[in-house]
Amino acid sequence: MAEVARRIVLAARPVGEPKPSDFRLEEFSPPDPGPGQVLLRTLWLSLDPYMRGRMSDAPSYAAPVEIGQVMEGGTVSDVLASHVGGFAVGDIVVGRTGWQTHALSDGRALRKVDHTQAPMSTALGVLGMPGMTAYAGLAEIGKPQAGETLVVAAASGAVGSVVGQIAKIKGLRAVGIAGGPEKCRFVVEELGFDAGVDHRAPDLAGRLQAACPKGIDIYFENVGGPVFEAVFPLLNPFARVPVCGLISQYNATAATAGAILTPQLFRAILTKRLTIRGFIVSDFASLQADFHRDVSTWLHEGRIKYREHVVEGLENAPRALIGLLKGENFGKVVVRVAAEQGLRVATPPPAHAEDRE
Ligand SMILES: NC(=O)c1ccc[n+]([C@@H]2O[C@H](COP(=O)([O-])OP(=O)(O)OC[C@H]3O[C@@H](n4cnc5c(N)ncnc54)[C@H](OP(=O)(O)O)[C@@H]3O)[C@@H](O)[C@H]2O)c1
Repeated sequence: MAEVARRIVLAARPVGEPKPSDFRLEEFSPPDPGPGQVLLRTLWLSLDPYMRGRMSDAPSYAAPVEIGQVMEGGTVSDVLASHVGGFAVGDIVVGRTGWQTHALSDGRALRKVDHTQAPMSTALGVLGMPGMTAYAGLAEIGKPQAGETLVVAAASGAVGSVVGQIAKIKGLRAVGIAGGPEKCRFVVEELGFDAGVDHRAPDLAGRLQAACPKGIDIYFENVGGPVFEAVFPLLNPFARVPVCGLISQYNATAATAGAILTPQLFRAILTKRLTIRGFIVSDFASLQADFHRDVSTWLHEGRIKYREHVVEGLENAPRALIGLLKGENFGKVVVRVAAEQGLRVATPPPAHAEDRE
């Protein structure tokens, strides 16, 4: 094969905010698949906040990417060659083949995607890992009840946007916390949340209280830091807090003292009988079929909408990940690594929005 393949590897472990020099773009020859292997061409690469954790060697729930290794990431690919039963040339698959244009796989971690039902990139967003995170964390830990108030942080993003829309479907009041007036307007006017509260404007605590006149029954935590401090006094007795992510801390180089002290936090957990539970989406793998059935249906009915932030070209992935960690994205970040040429693609469901850079 004459084509040159490209990959982005981890060049250095970042200290604080990642820099472009922490990544390195390399060229290589596309590999030949051996017996029991498929050759994949990446069409779409997902960028996600957890990638910052993989760049660090601090102890975590998953092993770090080693220096010189290809950056980890979810992908949608087409099959270029197959020596694995069940996979044929032209199949579209979702997998975890990382920041590269071509990859070999034994097929075990691949799932076929029906790209005639929904645009392929949704397999990395609303119908993929972030959508599943929202669905499962809300159902299993949030335990939503009609009439309750839910607050979700990073509300215009991949996970938060789905959390708030499912809450609306289940009959809750949904309040989204997001950075800036445009994202707040989007969650209310486009996604149907009841209120949007800008965490970058002054007096977050006062404006959040005004948006939650009956207090907060579910707080879906995506960010931590000062946003949690504004939420905490408003939690009602028996409130549930699925702790999904703490993005405000991912680039931190040292622990910063917050306004809430440990004894105060534990007193509230006890006296208000709070449930605060962390989770990783893989904990709830048994809900995968329910998730796919419910969210696909809601998407096609127009009850769930999604927004994508499309980055053109693998070489722009480092800059886009750096921006994602600072809130420069508006919607689920996906990188178009190769064009979907010659493939029959689905018409986007209603009210799909897209930003490009
Ligand atoms: N537990 C799991 O299995 C799991 C799975 C997927 C994702 N997650 C977590 O879920 C969270 C959201 O992920 P996502 O993929 O949906 O990303 P996203 O919301 O699409 O993008 C990240 C957003 O975080 C917000 N943000 C960044 N820095 C912030 C800060 N200092 N304070 C407040 N907000 C800040 C920004 O939104 P604003 O501009 O609105 O501030 C940014 O757009 C992340 O914490 C991620 O790690 C966890």
